Amino acid sequence: MDETAILHVDGQSFELPIVTGTEGERAVDISSLRASTGLITLDDGYGNTGSCASQITFIDGESGILRYRGVPIEDLAARSSFIETAELLIFGELPDPEERDVFRQLLTENSALHRDMRKHFDGFPADAHPMAILSAMINALQAYDLPEIHITDNIGFRRAAAALLAKTRTIAAASYKSHIGQPIAYPRYDLPYAENFLHMMFSVPYRDYEPTPEVAHALNMFLVLHADHEQNCSTSTVRMVASGGANLFASVSAGVNALWGPRHGGANMAVLDMLEHIHRDDIPVSRYIDQAKDRSSSVRLMGFGHRVYRSFDPRAQILKEAAHRLLESMHIKDPLLDIAQQVEESALADDYFRERKLYPNVDFYSGIILRAIGIPTDMFTVMFAIGRTPGWIAHWKEVHDNAGQKIHRPRQLYVGEPLTQWLPPAQR
Ligand code: SDX
Repeated sequence: MDETAILHVDGQSFELPIVTGTEGERAVDISSLRASTGLITLDDGYGNTGSCASQITFIDGESGILRYRGVPIEDLAARSSFIETAELLIFGELPDPEERDVFRQLLTENSALHRDMRKHFDGFPADAHPMAILSAMINALQAYDLPEIHITDNIGFRRAAAALLAKTRTIAAASYKSHIGQPIAYPRYDLPYAENFLHMMFSVPYRDYEPTPEVAHALNMFLVLHADHEQNCSTSTVRMVASGGANLFASVSAGVNALWGPRHGGANMAVLDMLEHIHRDDIPVSRYIDQAKDRSSSVRLMGFGHRVYRSFDPRAQILKEAAHRLLESMHIKDPLLDIAQQVEESALADDYFRERKLYPNVDFYSGIILRAIGIPTDMFTVMFAIGRTPGWIAHWKEVHDNAGQKIHRPRQLYVGEPLTQWLPPAQR
């Protein structure tokens, strides 16, 4: 006997089926609600609303669990490469060595940008924000990578996924080179993904940049940890745009824009700004914490809190340890890391944060790592976007492959003016 929920309204009772997920999470299926009762639900911010059933990522916010296709994030962060994790998310399983080589070859063949696309970089002002460039250039790819736009089979999808992963990295590095007035560095075909990005960012015509193993590992881990996070704001945006039938590139470009805000992927930049502000102005951490607790102030503890995690964000724990290891290996003493630790310790000892279950999230320590690698703060959210691209691609595919997929079209409760007549200007 399937479980049901009973809704009593207007003297009638309505049965609504309860559906259960792989890990025992349960949901009331309300897809028949309006037809049978005339009612809709209202859930500002969708905190109680499942938009879909998905096979890609599982999060248990109460227990701090995160798994990509069932594989714990701790295993992937410690042992997997970013591209292997991308294949796991996109194609549903860890690749065997042959699949790995085929996909790596596709990435290599699709890393370069069309010659005419490079002209766009000349058109952007030197101080253009890298997120604006990334979003614009992913959209512009549609004008040049036509075979990847009209995906008709899995071979075409595999090529398009590789092209997007490879070119997102190329665009990000090229926007940095344009910004600092250096020639754009071409991808090297003998380097893994993270190392190739660092090469394209920091090599110059007269000297190739060779990252230390620790730097390469830290960037690889950063990308793995950002690769997917189920129905977050930007991924839900990609799914919504995909539900209308938009192509992969248009949908992911929408995801880039959704990620930008300081409440979402823009938080990693905001965390660094916050730590630098505390350091530069020598603000006692306790005073900053008090400001963040004060509802009348606009100050919030950036990198703290989460829509889903009501205990620690497993990614924050891993990034904190990685930040310490990386700085130690580079013999860097970054005062901002010390300040971050003081902020974390003070907040976690404070009832305001404990009562509201506010813990460090993925953005709290990630910027310390990027800063140590030499990536400028205004590129931090671009780095988040590069990391999240496999997740966006996987979710676009899940929508695209769902034959019964409906276009996303939420309802609303209208609370505006009742029927109102138009009046000529003289009578208004
Ligand atoms: C990401 O969704 C995902 O999965 C996202 C992400 C991913 O991988 O895709 O994990 C990446 O976006 C991480 C979050 C990055 N953002 C930040 O670090 C910005 C700072 N955090 C806050 O803006 C906030 O915590 C949110 C937006 C992240 C979550 O907001 P919620 O869950 O809607 O919390 P809320 O606004 O309902 O706040 C609940 C209470 C409020 O106080 P009271 O009304 O109870 O008095 O907690 C307070 C809030 O004022 N609060 C904070 C706070 N976050 C919440 N107070 C101070 N500092 C904060 N950071």
